[in-house]
Amino acid sequence: MREERPIIALDFPSFEDVKTFLNLFPSEEKLYVKIGMELYYAAGPEIVRYVKNLGHSVFLDLKLHDIPNTVGSAMAVLANLGVDMTNVHAAGGVEMMKAARQGLGEGPKLIAVTQLTSTSEEQMRDFQNIQTSLAESVVHYAKRTAEAGLDGVVCSAHEVEAIKAETSQDFVCLTPGIRPAGSAVGDQKRVMTPADAKVIGSDFIVVGRPITQAEDPVAAYQAIKAEWNA
Ligand code: C5P
Repeated sequence: MREERPIIALDFPSFEDVKTFLNLFPSEEKLYVKIGMELYYAAGPEIVRYVKNLGHSVFLDLKLHDIPNTVGSAMAVLANLGVDMTNVHAAGGVEMMKAARQGLGEGPKLIAVTQLTSTSEEQMRDFQNIQTSLAESVVHYAKRTAEAGLDGVVCSAHEVEAIKAETSQDFVCLTPGIRPAGSAVGDQKRVMTPADAKVIGSDFIVVGRPITQAEDPVAAYQAIKAEWNA
């Protein structure tokens, strides 16, 4: 199920920076934002309550990975914060993912990270000792994620087709690494435009710096949103 709002990655170091950024938008514009580790560890759960109170939706990107009992209890806490979506590492295993689902409840979306995009195939073979291709490993984790009852995965836009083919068309694919044509790629290696992400079937796109670092973040957001929904 496709989300029309691009998710804005709030990669800011402090609460104050987030307030300044969100104040740029008219109050009736309800956003979908991603809060990651840096901001959450700096500002605490209060940042989630603040953003939710403004009427925005929150994807809390904390990538939990621990024993099932611990992850399940932590997820219950996050559910109480009112997050709309959060995630775990699929590498924690099916039992951990099932515990996460149970702790979070059925309301919020729960997705998994498969292989981090910073992991190369060589690293995966040498360090994790997984002797397949990276693409096969990603699809393998996605299938286990679906079996555990999660809603989907975080993945590269280039992996969406294969993942949906091996799980289901309804299995959520959330894709970062999105860059409107002509914008700075930064440290992202394999990027895709919002229009192309739509064509290949992404359900959620995550966009950070092309919006947060733009001269006019509101205009940049509107342009990306228009391209994603065109
Ligand atoms: O600024 P940019 O658009 O590159 O931000 C993308 C966001 O998505 C960042 O918060 C980054 O950590 C996150 N992300 C990513 N690639 C992944 C997983 C998460 O860029 N594979």
